[in-house]
Amino acid sequence: MSIQLGDTAPDFVQDSTEGKIQFHEWIGASWAVLFSHPKNYTPVCTTELGAVAKLKKEFDKRHVKVIGLSVDPLTSHEGWLKDIEETQGAKLNFPLLADADKKVSSLYGMIHPNASDTFTVRSVFIIGPDKKVKLTITYPASTGRNFDEVLRVIDSLQLAAEFKVATPVNWRDGQDCIVLPSISNDEAKKLFPKGFTEVKPYLRTTPQPNR
Ligand code: BEZ
Repeated sequence: MSIQLGDTAPDFVQDSTEGKIQFHEWIGASWAVLFSHPKNYTPVCTTELGAVAKLKKEFDKRHVKVIGLSVDPLTSHEGWLKDIEETQGAKLNFPLLADADKKVSSLYGMIHPNASDTFTVRSVFIIGPDKKVKLTITYPASTGRNFDEVLRVIDSLQLAAEFKVATPVNWRDGQDCIVLPSISNDEAKKLFPKGFTEVKPYLRTTPQPNR
C-alpha cells in the first residue's frame, strides 16, 4: 500500500551520516523533506546532493529539515560525500540515511520493482510538523529533480496551512492567491483585508496574505 497524502509519515530509526535518527523526534516542530537516491557514486545523485546542500539557507528560512536516503552502507556514504564536496563545491549539511537493510525505503515504497529491484526511485516526501505527508513526488532514476519546485511547493503548503487560500498554476511566492471556494464573499471580506477580485463566483483572487 503506497503512502498517500494525509497519512502519518512512517516513523523509523536508521543510521545516517549524522548518527542514528529517530525520524519523528528528529523532525520535531519543523517541516521535513525526505528524498531518496537510487545509488551512491552515480552522477545525477551527486549533482542533486550538491544542489540541496547549496539550498540550505532556503530550507532553514522555511523551518524545513532535509534528509536524504540511499540504500548503501555508511562506509560508502563517507567516501561519496568527499566526492560531492570536490565536484559540486558544497559539503553535505544535512543527514544522509544509510538504508542498506532497506528498512526505510520499504516503509516508504521507494523501491519500484518494475523500475529496479535494487535501486530506489527518486522519491520526495514533504512532511508537516504534524508528521502528516503533505506531498509526494516520484521521478525516475534518469531525471534529476528540480529542488526550486520543492521550495515552491513548501511556500504554497505553508501558506495554505495558515490562510484560507490555494495557489494557482505556476504560482511563486509574492503572487496573488486564490480564495478557497468554501469561503463566502462575506467571510472573504473579513479574512482578506487587502480585498479580493471575483473573476467568477468560483474564481476569486487575493494578494498574498502574508506579504
Ligand atoms: C544517477 O544518479 O546518475 C543514476 C542512478 C541510477 C540510474 C541512472 C542514473
